[in-house]
Amino acid sequence: MSTEQPTILVTGGAGYIGSHASLALKKAGYRVIVLDNLSYGHRELIEQVVEVDLVIGDTSDRALLDKLFTTHNIAAVMHFAAYIAVGESVKEPGKYYRNNVSSTLTLLEAMLAHGIDKFVFSSTCAVYGMPQEIPMTEAHPHSPLSPYAASKDMVERILSDFDIARGLKSVAFRYFNASGADPSGTLGEDHAPETHLIPLALLTALGKRKTLYIFGTDYDTPDGTAVRDYIHVSDLADAHVLGLEYLLSGGESQVFNLGNGNGFSVKAVIETARQVTGKDIPAEITDRRSGDAPILVGSSDKVRRILGWNPQYADLNKIIGDAWRWHQQRHG
Ligand SMILES: NC(=O)c1ccc[n+]([C@@H]2O[C@H](COP(=O)([O-])OP(=O)(O)OC[C@H]3O[C@@H](n4cnc5c(N)ncnc54)[C@H](O)[C@@H]3O)[C@@H](O)[C@H]2O)c1
Repeated sequence: MSTEQPTILVTGGAGYIGSHASLALKKAGYRVIVLDNLSYGHRELIEQVVEVDLVIGDTSDRALLDKLFTTHNIAAVMHFAAYIAVGESVKEPGKYYRNNVSSTLTLLEAMLAHGIDKFVFSSTCAVYGMPQEIPMTEAHPHSPLSPYAASKDMVERILSDFDIARGLKSVAFRYFNASGADPSGTLGEDHAPETHLIPLALLTALGKRKTLYIFGTDYDTPDGTAVRDYIHVSDLADAHVLGLEYLLSGGESQVFNLGNGNGFSVKAVIETARQVTGKDIPAEITDRRSGDAPILVGSSDKVRRILGWNPQYADLNKIIGDAWRWHQQRHG
């Protein structure tokens, strides 16, 4: 009998979170096949740093999916592939619904046609919309404010319907702000365009950007700037391995928040980035962005309880320190 661990298909594995999850899967002994169209991913990171198989292709390509599911004995799919820019989704909703919803549907139908019924999905805390309570639990009502958030909400609904109709078992993780980098400094976040606060602060520290914008200082928060829940990408990756193992051992479908439960203000993040880098990070105050909540902090009690997840890197200094090591290596 073979003692080999199952093969997992990771869509979007050449991107930020998918590459860290691929590394965590590999370390846990799984065989990983990444499917990525490289629209935003980085080939060299998956081939030379994570060192797993990369298939360049699109999740909307049913013939390619059929070939992958026929050729390889795939036990489950982790689905990171999506477009992620909230602002762009408002201007180009069709692009987001096509890639994030329609392609996901193609993927799910192909999986089920080949008897693969385990799926781990990247959802987002943005499905909740404006918070009615803090910390937000999984029971918080949904009111997505952008096509991006709505596309994730729709997939969650599809997953629930496919469970009822076809027995698909899924774990959907609603991430708060994914941040940090693999502690090795060889793998990290490299979005183009970059919209996330921590990499923007570090790129400013490196002199790659002239200034950092603070959107609003008149929120009802201790220092007036918006508060967010930052979760280290390696903790997030570990949760995915736990979610996969939960499904492989016969678990029912679940939805989990993934955050570290602590909120940090924009000013606190910038101050910590200044301390970690030893650089002056010029910052400019500008107007609030519409749709930004004053505070977004999640409760991760459920994922701790059911999956036994225990984040190792909840400290902001560690998150920014790891991101800084990566950014210096990548852009320094
Ligand atoms: N970064 C965050 O803070 C955050 C927060 C909440 C949810 N998420 C979700 O996590 C997932 C990963 O986010 P990320 O930050 O790693 O983004 P990313 O852009 O770095 O990675 C996405 C990857 O998917 C690939 N891709 C996109 N569409 C594809 C398609 N149709 N077929 C094949 N490959 C495709 C891209 O080339 C890219 O490598 C996304 O689903 C995103 O919505 C991210």
